[in-house]
Amino acid sequence: MKARLLGHRELAPGTRHFDFEALDWDGVFLPGQFLSLTANLPAGPITRAYSIATPPSGRTFGLCANLVPEGQFSPWLFTREIGDEIEFKGPIGTFTPRPTGSDSILVATGTGIAPFRSFLGADALTGNCTLIFGTRHADGLLYHSEWLELATNRPGFLYEPTLTRPGPDWHFATGRVQPHVMQALGDRRDIDVYICGLREMVDDLRAQLKAAGVDRKRVIYEKYD
Ligand SMILES: Cc1cc2nc3c(=O)[nH]c(=O)nc-3n(C[C@H](O)[C@H](O)[C@H](O)COP(=O)(O)OP(=O)(O)OC[C@H]3O[C@@H](n4cnc5c(N)ncnc54)[C@H](O)[C@@H]3O)c2cc1C
Ligand SMILES: NC(=O)c1ccc[n+]([C@@H]2O[C@H](COP(=O)([O-])OP(=O)(O)OC[C@H]3O[C@@H](n4cnc5c(N)ncnc54)[C@H](OP(=O)(O)O)[C@@H]3O)[C@@H](O)[C@H]2O)c1
Repeated sequence: MKARLLGHRELAPGTRHFDFEALDWDGVFLPGQFLSLTANLPAGPITRAYSIATPPSGRTFGLCANLVPEGQFSPWLFTREIGDEIEFKGPIGTFTPRPTGSDSILVATGTGIAPFRSFLGADALTGNCTLIFGTRHADGLLYHSEWLELATNRPGFLYEPTLTRPGPDWHFATGRVQPHVMQALGDRRDIDVYICGLREMVDDLRAQLKAAGVDRKRVIYEKYD
């Protein structure tokens, strides 16, 4: 299938939000699913997955991507211009809100926030929900103002950003996401935990949740590498 780039904006240094219009796809997907994009490079076609960073809304959809300077696909994506067409397949994936009605903790580092923007934009979680978002610097907290606004307007939604390299003006949580997740969980074992980001974080947090006796069916995850 094909989509046309409608626009893009810088969310943080090296991180962009891209808006596309599908040309031959109806735009039906479940929040949390991803698309598989293909670039036809001189060395041959190359394919990479990107979580949809918007709730379902007809034929337009958004993606949120990091530029990995030494990477193969993302430098190509970052040179697309408005009006350019991309090839993709999908939607794909089972990292989607479970219909349990349970409270949930959403855990993201970096661009792992993308599927949660779709979850939350679609209001797809019924119970109370805590978003724990870890980045290095404050300017890496992607869509930060949206999460602050949601915390004000959606009853039962808590936003807990945490920085591993905070500046002097940061007066909120610090350090990696893991201890903050364990603290949010406390003694409860009736909470669904959704985790998205790079493998090391996902694997480490899964191991901590398992050691704490959280049922593995309640731990839903997506690894980006
Ligand atoms: C299901 C799924 C969904 C994904 N969704 C997104 C998304 O929404 N946004 C996104 O930016 N990436 C996402 N990715 C990662 C994406 O597919 C690519 O791996 C990434 O863009 C790097 O591709 P590349 O060809 O430029 O780099 P490669 O040549 O593939 O280099 C890979 C290197 O980049 C690192 N890497 C991979 N992803 C990231 C990242 N997001 N930030 C920093 N370093 C990274 C890897 O650890 C590895 O060291 C997703 C991956 C999967 C499997
Ligand atoms: N110039 C560019 O080309 C470019 C490209 C992409 C991103 N960026 C920028 O560079 C910064 C980094 O971007 P990013 O998306 O890679 O990272 P990020 O947004 O800073 O988030 C990554 C977070 O994950 C943490 N982390 C790493 N390993 C972990 C583990 N095993 N368990 C738990 N947490 C772990 C990191 O902590 P530690 O600090 O402890 O590692 C960091 O807090 C951002 O500010 C971004 O805007 C620049």
